[in-house]
Amino acid sequence: MRMNGNTALNPGDLAINNPTDHARHWPIGSPISTPDTARAELEDGTPVRLRLLDAEDSATIQAFFESLSPRSLHQRFHQRLQTLSPPLLRLLCGMDGQRHVAVGAFADAGLIGIGRFVCSAENARTAEVAFSVADSSQGRGLGKKLLRALAMAASERGVDTFLFTVLADNRAATRLLTIPGSSSVIRGGQLEGRVNVADVLR
Ligand SMILES: CC(C)(COP(=O)(O)OP(=O)(O)OC[C@H]1O[C@@H](n2cnc3c(N)ncnc32)[C@H](O)[C@@H]1OP(=O)(O)O)[C@@H](O)C(=O)NCCC(=O)NCCS
Repeated sequence: MRMNGNTALNPGDLAINNPTDHARHWPIGSPISTPDTARAELEDGTPVRLRLLDAEDSATIQAFFESLSPRSLHQRFHQRLQTLSPPLLRLLCGMDGQRHVAVGAFADAGLIGIGRFVCSAENARTAEVAFSVADSSQGRGLGKKLLRALAMAASERGVDTFLFTVLADNRAATRLLTIPGSSSVIRGGQLEGRVNVADVLR
């Protein structure tokens, strides 16, 4: 399952078929429980608050994606989008807090970044990740904070492996997801890889 425009977020991918016993449920909308990620600072000192997003954030999530530059949208969805279609927006707002989890980063200006994972329909321990940081906030360490927060949420739910697909020339995303223990291959202009959740949290 890819979270790009071609095969992104098929509704069936979000079905909870085999909930695992060890996956504890975090109340949707609650702060991330570990203090060092609930509040954080970007590299320039900007304070941010990280929390899980839920359906009540839909309008905010939509406005966030609509504010992204064409370049960022292309990097996120792997295609040139003129507009975000209603079905895509519904999928982007379809978090269930368990197998489809999104972490939002809020600054004074509002929502400035989203990291998300969606579990594989075949294997609830494996999830595809995707990230979007507001253009004006990129390159200041927020992607790394979202990745860590997402890994914590994943660990709480029994997810142990993140899969990713990013454009091979997307240097920021490649750097973000190429960590010790990760592996990847380039296929058709895309970098496809996997990261152990435990390695993110080391
Ligand atoms: C990819 C993205 C999520 C990264 O988030 P970010 O906040 O910009 O990244 P960070 O500041 O946390 O940096 C992450 C790593 O990338 C590097 N990096 C950041 N911007 C970079 C750039 N323009 N060129 C090269 N490396 C860059 C950082 O140095 C860091 O690596 P390091 O830890 O080795 O120093 C963000 O740039 C983004 O939303 N881009 C548009 C959408 C997208 O590409 N999504 C990813 C596909 S799912």
